[in-house]
Amino acid sequence: MNDSISFRLMTVADIDQILIIEHLSFTVPWSREAFYNELTNNPYASYVVMLEQNNVIGYCGLWVVLEEAHVTNIAVLPEYRGRKLGEALLNQAMELVKALGAQRLSLEVRVTNVVAQSLYRKLGFQDGGIRKNYYTDNGEDALVMWVNIYETANHTRN
Ligand SMILES: CC(C)(COP(=O)(O)OP(=O)(O)OC[C@H]1O[C@@H](n2cnc3c(N)ncnc32)[C@H](O)[C@@H]1OP(=O)(O)O)[C@@H](O)C(=O)NCCC(=O)NCCS
Repeated sequence: MNDSISFRLMTVADIDQILIIEHLSFTVPWSREAFYNELTNNPYASYVVMLEQNNVIGYCGLWVVLEEAHVTNIAVLPEYRGRKLGEALLNQAMELVKALGAQRLSLEVRVTNVVAQSLYRKLGFQDGGIRKNYYTDNGEDALVMWVNIYETANHTRN
């Protein structure tokens, strides 16, 4: 991976750049208020940002409650996709989940989002159930995926 890539926790000052990525990545983007609330009012939330130099190029949100953790969102700026950076970002998030003491990490993903599903399977996630009509914009089903982060020796499985 490029030496100029780094990771740190998200702060309120990052929200402007996060919103750009959010709008380029999701059909129902989160609002400024939603991110602000996560960073200032939600004791269970941790958000990781990925930077190239000082520019935010990706982020991953987590809720961690005791041994259970959940990915709220993960996205990479479109022009940076396909360079293993989403994988690096999710690996960082999984390290943070471990450091915070959780054991299982779960998420929902659109059943049609084969790119994200492929990333999650590569890092050891398994299919859970289907949540019917989960997405409000088009009624699409969500696939629940989960991983026991202690059962993936090295997160990347080639
Ligand atoms: C999902 C996302 C974060 C992946 O980030 P990325 O940087 O493009 O992915 P990487 O380059 O790290 O690829 C890692 C793995 O993802 C999968 N993947 C990435 N691009 C893919 C593509 N075009 N087709 C199929 N699988 C793909 C592969 O498994 C890949 O591993 P490989 O290169 O060894 O085959 C990114 O596509 C994104 O931001 N998408 C929009 C937001 C989104 O859908 N988020 C998920 C919501 S649940």
